Amino acid sequence: MNYPYQIKTREAYDKAYKQSVEDPESFWANIAETFTWQKKWDKVLTWNFKDPDIKWFEGGKLNITENCLDRHLEKSGNKPAIIWESNDPEEHHRILTYKELHFKVVQFSNVLKNNGVKKGDRVCIYMGMIPELAIATLACARIGAIHSVIFGGFSAQAIADRLDDAQSEFIITCDGAYRGAKDIPLKSVIDDALIGNKSIKRVIVCTRTRTPVSMIKGRDVWWEDEIKKVETHGNPDCPAEVMDAEDILFILYTSGSTGKPKGVVHSTAGYMVWANYTFVNVFQYQPGQVHFCTADIGWITGHSYIIYGPLSAGGTTLMFEGVPTWPDAGRFWEIVDTYKVNILYTAPTAIRSLMGFGLEYLKNKDLSSLKVLGTVGEPINEEAWHWYDKNIGKGNCPIVDTWWQTETGGIMISNIANVTEGIPSFATLPLPGVQPCLVDENGVEIEGNKVNGNLCIKAPWPGIIRSTYRDHERCRQTYFSTYPDKYFTGDGCMRDADGNYRITGRVDDVLNVSGHRIGTAEVENAINMHAGVIESAVVGYPHDIKGQGIYAYVIHDGSHGDPNLTRQDILQTVARIIGPIAKPDKIQFVPGLPKTRSGKIMRRILRKIAEGDTGNLGDTSTLLDPSLVDIIKESRI
Ligand code: WT7
Repeated sequence: MNYPYQIKTREAYDKAYKQSVEDPESFWANIAETFTWQKKWDKVLTWNFKDPDIKWFEGGKLNITENCLDRHLEKSGNKPAIIWESNDPEEHHRILTYKELHFKVVQFSNVLKNNGVKKGDRVCIYMGMIPELAIATLACARIGAIHSVIFGGFSAQAIADRLDDAQSEFIITCDGAYRGAKDIPLKSVIDDALIGNKSIKRVIVCTRTRTPVSMIKGRDVWWEDEIKKVETHGNPDCPAEVMDAEDILFILYTSGSTGKPKGVVHSTAGYMVWANYTFVNVFQYQPGQVHFCTADIGWITGHSYIIYGPLSAGGTTLMFEGVPTWPDAGRFWEIVDTYKVNILYTAPTAIRSLMGFGLEYLKNKDLSSLKVLGTVGEPINEEAWHWYDKNIGKGNCPIVDTWWQTETGGIMISNIANVTEGIPSFATLPLPGVQPCLVDENGVEIEGNKVNGNLCIKAPWPGIIRSTYRDHERCRQTYFSTYPDKYFTGDGCMRDADGNYRITGRVDDVLNVSGHRIGTAEVENAINMHAGVIESAVVGYPHDIKGQGIYAYVIHDGSHGDPNLTRQDILQTVARIIGPIAKPDKIQFVPGLPKTRSGKIMRRILRKIAEGDTGNLGDTSTLLDPSLVDIIKESRI
């Protein structure tokens, strides 16, 4: 496959950027032309940010799996599409060529149809990082079902909420998943999520860990048995469903500043073009290269840069089941060495954690295949950037610092490998199609350079969020109402003298813990469910490895006596309601929370105390009870 829209020089970037702003319709039409369409679009773009109502390639008909699979069969059918590395380094890896992956996706598409899944149905996918996860996802797309992948670290309650919100009737899961030294009993978590549920018609269970599971008659079936049925009776083909450009491809739940996660909606054609365009350009992917994105498919990074970006480009994507530090901290480097990985895309939190284990784990690992390194998920500190550059890239690999969000579908602001310059801790420049701006708290755009503000985007790009599932008003309110006619990202940002962007972090009540997005209100709701908890306030604080840690201030009725036991109980409750990823790192019991006379919690003060910056807490005179601040300061942990 060749990529006529791959930007190869700085001049080409400037030219593409200019054209994308001046004439977005012809710019994106030229790129979209290179994809496989069942019918071409009538209109490239219509939009307003008021409703919002955004349509890309309206009138076009296509199926994303024909672009990710079928169109590569003739020339690259025997090329590896997915290289899968097990959690267990001793277990044999698996390689699926484009032909094999196509065959398996078609086969599982027929399984889905046999089980009553139809176009437009929502299918919840709760699996570990095995090839069947990618197969299940693509099979949904092939028959036009809407996938909603849920990360394996979420609890039964969190799954139940998401099933309910999406009105899903189908679930695809595994008996269990391996993650480092742990086994996660996925099916058992699903069973808990389904207690009392009357709307789920079918649960398809794929075998991975052989953990004992309870299969409910009439509801639960084994993946392997269902495959046998289509092998003997089924049609070996499954024509790709005809999808409108704006039909929903998937829903992905993400946290915001309210207590309830939102189902971010992405549609078919725009998302496909954006995932592909950003993949091919930012990483400068060359045919034949091995791309290793270490994210989980349960997050947007996995959707766009393990599945849809690389496969739509006919590339080879490496999927890793395990964790970076098990059996030891050399796991990533061993994988890079074994498969001659060319592009490594990971998170700052992983880099910082591996940095802490020292250079010993790099000994005897040949990393010379690496050409491009990438980071995503949070701002990367300069120390981690330099460690990555020196020890992993050996000073020869550009590091792309890619800023984007679940809502943006793909990378928005990033340097382009070997084309535009990287600067430690800067995302640098917007990709073609992206028009960032900084605004002050009154919504006035801040012009010029060397300025700070809230990051907004002025015009739609193909991968932009279309809605929040079943609640369009929430989408409008969250992203398009803070600043009229702009998409608001929720991030603070600085623009330097040369126009490079540096993301400074969230300006709303959203935490970024090890690259996972967690709403403080969600954690508070979970803590407050614990008997004996009267009220709580959650803030973030700087954490050496995780980026941000979770600090909880809790008012407790004291009924339990031993505060350490109460802490354990609260952690259990949070793990039950959200999942282990949302457990607070620190819990401080307080007699009260600093509130204004109108009852608003002064989070600014709580953040400062959590950060250990207790010297200057600013003006506390508007507090209902200023003396509380000293008490909280003294009992800080
Ligand atoms: C938030 C989005 C995008 C995939 C992973 C996270 C932060 C993301 C960067 C970066 C600084 C970053 C932002 C953003 N973020 N990438 N390169 N530099 N901050 O997706 O869960 O939707 O979180 O992650 O704060 O808003 P997400």
